[in-house]
Amino acid sequence: MEERFEPNIVAFLCNWCSYAGADLAGTSRMQYPPNVHIVRVMCTGRINPLFVVNAFQQGADGVLVSGCHPGECHYREGNYHARRRFTLLRELLVFTGVDRRRFNMSWVSASEGAKWREVVREAVEMAREAGPFEQFRREMIGW
Ligand code: FES
Repeated sequence: MEERFEPNIVAFLCNWCSYAGADLAGTSRMQYPPNVHIVRVMCTGRINPLFVVNAFQQGADGVLVSGCHPGECHYREGNYHARRRFTLLRELLVFTGVDRRRFNMSWVSASEGAKWREVVREAVEMAREAGPFEQFRREMIGW
């Protein structure tokens, strides 16, 4: 039997909403794919686009950015900046030949554990369909 490809997903989550939503999913014992490696940041506005590129270089098959819903950022406008920045980054990635399904953004609040579960399932499924990502992979000396 052929083994199913299990993609590595790196998720950058803001501390106040999406990380708390993911935590709620965990404490509520919701089942979701274990393929996601979470990086907690204070706000999506803190996420440098190079973090995303770096994640791909270090072996991610998909990257997810998630934060507070528009209008609910704890730093007022961080997620508006992030939304603009990552809309552009996605188009740039696609321009360089990266499959659109490898990069996703979503808004998940602290009370949306079930939504977080769905966002993860969707991101994993899309990365699985896109297949292993080698294009940006950098040889990591000593890893
Ligand atoms: Fe959550 Fe800014 S604090 S996106």
